[in-house]
Amino acid sequence: MANDKGLVLVTGGAGFIGSHLVHRLVKDGYTVRVIDNLIRSDLSRLRDLIDAGRIEFIDGDVRYEDAVGRAMQGIDYVFHEAAVCINRSMAYPKESMDINLNGSHVVFQSALDHKVKRVVFASSASVYGDPTTLPMREDGPLAPITPYCVAKLSSEYLLRFFARKGLSYNILRYFNVYGPHQKVDAYYTSVIIMFIKRLIAGQAPVIQGTGEQTMDFVHVNDIVEANMLALRSDVSGEIFNVGSGVSTSVKRLAEILIASLGKDVTPQFSNVQSVVKHRQADITKIRRLLGFRPSVPVKEGLKEVAIDITKDPDSYRF
Ligand SMILES: NC(=O)c1ccc[n+]([C@@H]2O[C@H](COP(=O)([O-])OP(=O)(O)OC[C@H]3O[C@@H](n4cnc5c(N)ncnc54)[C@H](O)[C@@H]3O)[C@@H](O)[C@H]2O)c1
Repeated sequence: MANDKGLVLVTGGAGFIGSHLVHRLVKDGYTVRVIDNLIRSDLSRLRDLIDAGRIEFIDGDVRYEDAVGRAMQGIDYVFHEAAVCINRSMAYPKESMDINLNGSHVVFQSALDHKVKRVVFASSASVYGDPTTLPMREDGPLAPITPYCVAKLSSEYLLRFFARKGLSYNILRYFNVYGPHQKVDAYYTSVIIMFIKRLIAGQAPVIQGTGEQTMDFVHVNDIVEANMLALRSDVSGEIFNVGSGVSTSVKRLAEILIASLGKDVTPQFSNVQSVVKHRQADITKIRRLLGFRPSVPVKEGLKEVAIDITKDPDSYRF
């Protein structure tokens, strides 16, 4: 039975971002249901909430209408986080299109059929490809490189189609999301874990190329906050970048982590080049329309992850 705030479905709710979102929703008094097929996660992050009867968990696949239809019963709001990542999309492109695009279609259609009040969709800054100008704006050129990015962009367009039928939505293009329990194999942010693990082992971080390549690291708590704002706002049918707005070079990242863990090492450099060279979100739109303000400074957030891994290395597995 949903409480006054409403019943929320989080697809992919057992994953890195989804599980943080679920914890926040429960804290804010929403009634929460999760659908996840656990292809890239386990229930460890949700176990306490499930055992306490605070959330309902459905072991199901977003590609299947029956499973999604069951999960959508009585739902007021949907956060669509379920997806397979960039690395996997390059290894298994057909599966990636199937989950990340057809799965989105199934979720959006079902949300429309069940008269859901708002869908918030987890898109990605990767729809921009390698940007020609920085910071990257929502109306900048789109150049998806991998099947993952193609599916994300296509899902965005699908939402416009469903909006014409009456579905309310907002789209969030996440930049480089990091934080406690982040995935060790995420395409961009795995560098954080690699550096930390080497530092813990007493080794110097190995930087690809010159280390001048940049990312926009945004803490998962800020991503969660953006989702809550996108859910509650009167503004709908919009696309928003969600980043810190700060560009951090990989070289700087190594320096921050070395200092965070108090190590006395000098980074090494390798000849391997990274695919995307620079990332920095223009967050003017989300600031203006949703009142979003990133709250976790990159230096502090990275230190928190470094300490968390030191304390609990086993939780950084998938
Ligand atoms: N982490 C980032 O830096 C980042 C950046 C941009 C966009 N995103 C997007 O944010 C969302 C969440 O990312 P994350 O980092 O938490 O990833 P994650 O892999 O930790 O979580 C995704 C979850 O979806 C589940 N899932 C995958 N396929 C499914 C299917 N067919 N049916 C049901 N569940 C399925 C997985 O088991 C996993 O629990 C994804 O849509 C991702 O593309 C993430």
